[in-house]
Amino acid sequence: MTMKSIATAPAKIILLGEHAVVYGQPSIAVPLLSLRVYAKVVPAPQGSGLCIVSNDIDNPELIITSFNQSSTHSFATAAHLLLDYLGKSLPDVKIVLRSDIPVASGLGSGAAVITALIRGLLIVLGASLSDDIVNSFVYETEKLFHGTPSGIDNTVIVYEEPVYFVRGHPIERLEIGRPFTLLIADTGISASTKKAVSDVRRLYDVNPPSIEGLFNSIGALVNAGRKAIEVGDYQSLGSIMNENQIILRNLTVSSAELDKLVQVARDAGALGAKLSGGGRGGNMIAVVEPENAVLVKSDLLDAGASHVYQTVVS
Ligand code: MEV
Repeated sequence: MTMKSIATAPAKIILLGEHAVVYGQPSIAVPLLSLRVYAKVVPAPQGSGLCIVSNDIDNPELIITSFNQSSTHSFATAAHLLLDYLGKSLPDVKIVLRSDIPVASGLGSGAAVITALIRGLLIVLGASLSDDIVNSFVYETEKLFHGTPSGIDNTVIVYEEPVYFVRGHPIERLEIGRPFTLLIADTGISASTKKAVSDVRRLYDVNPPSIEGLFNSIGALVNAGRKAIEVGDYQSLGSIMNENQIILRNLTVSSAELDKLVQVARDAGALGAKLSGGGRGGNMIAVVEPENAVLVKSDLLDAGASHVYQTVVS
């Protein structure tokens, strides 16, 4: 084993375009570098197999001694994909996963845990793989356990870069005209992205032309948002985020708590605000002038946000 024994992956935030991205529209997301999952590699006795310990209550300790017994677990699936690809056998090692990312909150916890696990296993195996390949393993695992993901979560998390993403297309790094400040406020309510995505699918199936129209409008907003970011026009970005929020409400993925925090942020002077990720709970984001961040943050906390994260995108 090499000296380095901790691998890590960040959370992510979708700025514009969630849900419509599943249907081929563009979306913009940025990594949240300060909020991370860590995978610590600990040597284990010979013959003990691969033991993965996690602080996520939905995914407690998993011991894999052969792949037949545990393949219904996303950790086992990810490990299997990697070992198969590298032609390696099961290592005797313990990987301790510690995630600071709240689960089911729109911050990409699932994809980040799998990314950190794969990178931890690469340390154990003394192997290195391109981000493209790591990304494909995380995506495969997401597909098996999280419904019909677009791939944006794993992409922004693996590459740790702001991205303009269209499903099935090569990723494009987002050009940032000048740094901008985001506040991310957690409603404290966990919500399943898989369920929100399948509810939107049901809406779509009932009236494809109408929902397609909403997706097209979101796509147009994402492209306008990209231009605003490229020239550093954050007043316009804020308005675009507000418009995106109206459509997300029409798609039934907002909630009373998200609407409240969005309104509080705007009333406190945010340039714009919307939910982020699957919705129904989880986090909202607001773009703010840096000098106004303290006030907006304080109002969000007073209004019941369980956490407010601040990040500068550059
Ligand atoms: C989840 O972070 C974003 C969604 O658009 C789902 C997806 O893209 O897979 C809601």
